[in-house]
Amino acid sequence: MAGLVVAMDGPSGSGKSSVSRGVARALGLRYLDTGAMYRAMTWWMLQQGVDLADPAAIAARCGEPRIVSGTDPDGPTIHVDDVDVAGPIRETEVTGAVSAVAAVPEVRVRLVALQREIIGAGDIVVEGRDIGSVVCPDAPVKVYLTASPEARAQRRSAELAGTTAEAQQEAMARRDTLDSTRKTDPLSMAAGAVEVDTTALTLEEVIAEVLRLVKERT
Ligand code: C5P
Repeated sequence: MAGLVVAMDGPSGSGKSSVSRGVARALGLRYLDTGAMYRAMTWWMLQQGVDLADPAAIAARCGEPRIVSGTDPDGPTIHVDDVDVAGPIRETEVTGAVSAVAAVPEVRVRLVALQREIIGAGDIVVEGRDIGSVVCPDAPVKVYLTASPEARAQRRSAELAGTTAEAQQEAMARRDTLDSTRKTDPLSMAAGAVEVDTTALTLEEVIAEVLRLVKERT
């Protein structure tokens, strides 16, 4: 299984992070959260006062921040220019702005290159929106996680204090539409990916299903 890459894609709230970390732990692999990298880029743009309604302004500056991702599934880390941004990148302001930043082709070129560098020789579970289609099209195991909009919103509002499931569902639907209709590398199911609907499954059941796929395909 040396060099294994497990590509884990799907919309927000489908369970990608918990499942990816669980699979990485079970197999002794590293873990990369590519969404955290797009969030870190967005956090930096907001700090700098870049006009996020202006894709050219985003493109002009996206080469500047130094984004460093730790890949331990027990405690993934994310730093921008040596600042720990694990907390700030989950705040509402970043969540509301990240899709606009992630839609800029120059941002994607830079972050995909960085992701491929980290993935290197493999032994890693990578979660995102375009891992099986763009970042690692040759990954032997590609999973596309889905869940009903209600289940996804429910999970997110359980994680975030102060939001209702309804408000979450609306914000997620907006983000999913932006992510799946953008011109560059939209969220879609990659060729060769296996769809796993997590709506009625427990976390343990989803992890077991992915481990079964890994066994079957390696
Ligand atoms: O996974 P997470 O919800 O943290 O991702 C935040 C945002 O980053 C997504 O809504 C999407 O706009 C962007 N993203 C992306 N490509 C990836 C991972 C995330 O465009 N591979």
